[in-house]
Amino acid sequence: MKTVPVTIPDLLEWKKNQRIITALTAYDYSFARFLDEADIDIVLVGDSLGMVSLGYENTLPVTMDEMIHHTRAVRRGIRHALLVGDMPFMSYQVSDQDAILNAGRFIKEGGAQAVKLEGGAQVLDRVQALVGAGISVMGHVGLTPQSVHQFGGYKVQGKNYLNARQIKKDALGLQKTGAFAVVLEGIPADLAAEITAELTIPTIGIGAGPQCDGQILVTQDMLGMNLDFFPKFVKKYADVGDTIQSALQDYIQEVRSGTFPDEEHSYRVERKPLRKVENANGA
Ligand code: KIV
Repeated sequence: MKTVPVTIPDLLEWKKNQRIITALTAYDYSFARFLDEADIDIVLVGDSLGMVSLGYENTLPVTMDEMIHHTRAVRRGIRHALLVGDMPFMSYQVSDQDAILNAGRFIKEGGAQAVKLEGGAQVLDRVQALVGAGISVMGHVGLTPQSVHQFGGYKVQGKNYLNARQIKKDALGLQKTGAFAVVLEGIPADLAAEITAELTIPTIGIGAGPQCDGQILVTQDMLGMNLDFFPKFVKKYADVGDTIQSALQDYIQEVRSGTFPDEEHSYRVERKPLRKVENANGA
């Protein structure tokens, strides 16, 4: 396992050298350990936490306290990857002051090295304020899930000329304002390739084709643990959900039939049989 931490200058260097960046999400200690052992470059505590771990319908209800709680758990499992905390809905939209205080919590309390926030032109002032306060920012444009109601669902963005142009302007604006990387989500592969070619900071794609500087997925999606969501851009690298289901069914069946616990999983010691307990004090 690598223990030298990945840094933001490393990511910028890798963009120059065309060394592809790998990223996945985590929400707890045990998954963070697995990802770090596997040598992932970036771990994002995404606000997808709300849907994956907390059972919300979308990411909008996620609170700062929930994000910090999970970021702290992930921090304890990581020695190598760069840890990025995702700013939840309404933690940065209202004012620069809110944004700095909340982003500061990710760094001070959560142990994150950077924060991510969604949006383009409308968040550039916030990004500038955060960078000015010494906080590293990853941008996120295209299909930004916190705008699900404005989009009318999780729909691919950048399909028409004006929308594609805006997404590209947003990405360039984020770079100019000091973001160190930009997530490109749910946009056509050729648009992502064009943006990637123009930016000097890395692009991290999700549903944005193969020509980004790096890729990110929600870990539970790529492990086949998501029971209700199968978008086209997710490749299942394992059927962990099926494995879990069959292990749970085996356990239930064995407990019910009395075959678990067996001798192998029971303790036996040589001892005198207990005397009959006469009263409640055991005298
Ligand atoms: O919340 C999240 O997990 C994300 C990534 C999938 C980019 O924003």
